[in-house]
Amino acid sequence: MSEESKTCEADPFCGIKSAKDPANATDFEKKHTPTIKAPDTVKPGEFFDVTIEVGKAVSHPNEPGHFIQWIELYSGPTFIARVDLTPALADTAVTIPVRLEHLHPLKAIARCNLHGAWLGEKNIKA
Ligand SMILES: [Fe+2]
Repeated sequence: MSEESKTCEADPFCGIKSAKDPANATDFEKKHTPTIKAPDTVKPGEFFDVTIEVGKAVSHPNEPGHFIQWIELYSGPTFIARVDLTPALADTAVTIPVRLEHLHPLKAIARCNLHGAWLGEKNIKA
């Protein structure tokens, strides 16, 4: 490894990023961390909406040189959905109706073309 190599933490495309201290997130962290809106309590096997928004607290750019490329939704380790995005959208928010038989924390990963993949989470229970 050369001295000029970035650490994984400093490399936007190494791993999945999240706010180091969520209670005191920086504007950069807030701009990239996906926010999940879903009921706190759901019934296994019944549909509910999951809305994932990037840039809710601090707006993220949405222009050809800098935008959110995709958002993925997981239930714990299980992949649920992926939405590909372009800068043509007015907002970086998607709503996905889901039906889960097994309830795990919801996880969303959003990828910025300049700043890599970011994780947001929300617990749900029966
Ligand atoms: Fe970005």
